[in-house]
Parts: sequence; C-alpha cells; structure tokens
Amino acid sequence: MKNEELKNRRVIVVGGSSGIGLKLSEELIAVGSEVVIASRSVEKLMAAKRQLDNKVTTYELDARDEQAVIRFFFEVGEIDHVVAAIKPDQVTGNFVTMPSSEVRKAFEAKYWGQCYVARHCLPYLSKEGSILLTSGIASSRGYKGYSGIAAINGAIESLVKALAVELAPIRVNAVSPGFIERFQNDTERYDALKLFGIRPPLDRMGTHKEVSAAYLFLLQNQYTSGMTLPIDGGELCA
Ligand SMILES: NC(=O)c1ccc[n+]([C@@H]2O[C@H](COP(=O)([O-])OP(=O)(O)OC[C@H]3O[C@@H](n4cnc5c(N)ncnc54)[C@H](OP(=O)(O)O)[C@@H]3O)[C@@H](O)[C@H]2O)c1
Repeated sequence: MKNEELKNRRVIVVGGSSGIGLKLSEELIAVGSEVVIASRSVEKLMAAKRQLDNKVTTYELDARDEQAVIRFFFEVGEIDHVVAAIKPDQVTGNFVTMPSSEVRKAFEAKYWGQCYVARHCLPYLSKEGSILLTSGIASSRGYKGYSGIAAINGAIESLVKALAVELAPIRVNAVSPGFIERFQNDTERYDALKLFGIRPPLDRMGTHKEVSAAYLFLLQNQYTSGMTLPIDGGELCA
C-alpha cells in the first residue's frame, strides 16, 4: 500500500508517545504526513521525539482535562485527521474487589479523554478528515478481570457508531487491538496469557506494526465510517 492519501496530511496522535501510537506516528512520518503527538509525560514525549529523529511536533496534554483539550486544538489549528490511542493507567482487576474509583479513573482517561478529543477537534478538522479512536477486544468477549475495560471499550465503540451518523461527512472509526506485544518477542507476557487460557488461533501476540496498519487503512479509506476494526489474530473467533 502506498498511503498516498496521507502524504502532506496533518495528523494528530493523542497517546502517540509510546506503544501503538508511537509506532503509528513513525509509519505516518514515513508516508509523508505532518505528525503532532500529544500525551501527559514530557519525558515520554522527548524520548518519542528523539526516536522519531525530531520529525514530530510534541504537546504536553492530559486528555482527561476538557479545557486543556480545547486549548490544545486551538493552539494546533487546522488538521486533517485525529487519532486517539489513550491507555488508562489501571485497567484490570476483580469486578467485586476493584475499587470503583479505579474504574472511574480508567473511564476518565480512555473514554472521556478520547471523547473530548473527538468533540473539540471538530472546529479545526478538514471536512474530508476523520476521527480514529481506540477500543480493544475486551468489549466483545468476556475475560476475568477485564470488566472495567470491557465497559470502556464498549462505550467507545457505541460512540463511534453514533458519531459516524451525527458528524458525517466526517468519518469516525476505531481500531480494536487484541493482545499486542509491548516490545519485540514479548514471549513472557504471551506465556502468562496462555496460563489464563488465552490463545488466539494465530498463536502469538500482534505487533505494533500490524496494529498500525489498521489505523493507516481506516485513515485512508474514504468509504469507512462507524467501523471498529479488530486486530486480534482471530481471538474473537476462538
Ligand atoms: N497493547 C495492547 O495489548 C492493547 C490491547 C487492547 C487495547 N489496547 C489499547 O490500545 C491503545 C494504546 O495502547 P498501548 O499498549 O500502545 O499503550 P501505551 O504504550 O501505554 O501508550 C498509551 C499512550 O497514551 C498516553 N496517555 C495515557 N493517558 C493519557 C492522558 N490522560 N492524556 C493523554 N495521553 C495519555 C500515554 O502517554 P503519557 O503516559 O505520557 O500520557 C501513551 O502515549 C490504548 O487505548 C489501549 O487500551 C492495547
């Protein structure tokens, strides 16, 4: 795929300072996009900037703070696409014993953070542009200890469908990662997952590159909207 659609496009990646968002930023730069990454930690932003050879603009932003999100988009100005790949600090825990406050905090970051991004980018977003959020396969399959993140991901996927209608012709989509490596050959984590009976048909975790490819597809394809694309090695069929 040539990714010509993304050449010279201005793309914001909130949550672009590590993991999937960082890999996506690298891929976007490689196809000629102008990339802005935002997240909370200045240290992570600086490290990301170094890793990306200074080819990105970075912004310190806590997306849980709605006023900060409003100011961020005002400062950034005109944009073509917005991606949010925010991961909450605490995501798993026993449904009965996990403090509700922890689940609320996770909602604040992953659901509300991405919701604020989708809402306040609108005055600056190109009419041919798109909003691309991140959910996760816990929305679609039960896993012990994942009830909080399941609810958050489900809320994001429902929001995507509603916004695809309400905001058209702006396209709104989501990527739903399955179990993804934190680093190359993250076998220790996969071995731990197997102990919980998690074994996708492709019998390995996905890579950041494979997940990034789904974001690139949804950013470019002009006839996708309201879609959540799982990248899960077949896990949802198992
Ligand atoms: N990796 C997986 O196996 C997996 C599976 C299912 C779903 N997902 C989803 O995929 C997305 C990316 O995950 P990842 O594994 O790449 O996570 P990651 O490496 O921890 O990256 C998360 C990014 O979100 C930023 N962030 C966190 N809270 C923020 C906030 N309040 N405001 C702004 N930025 C914030 C982080 O930077 P700062 O700390 O600097 O803020 C970081 O850049 C998440 O939505 C995650 O839930 C991942």
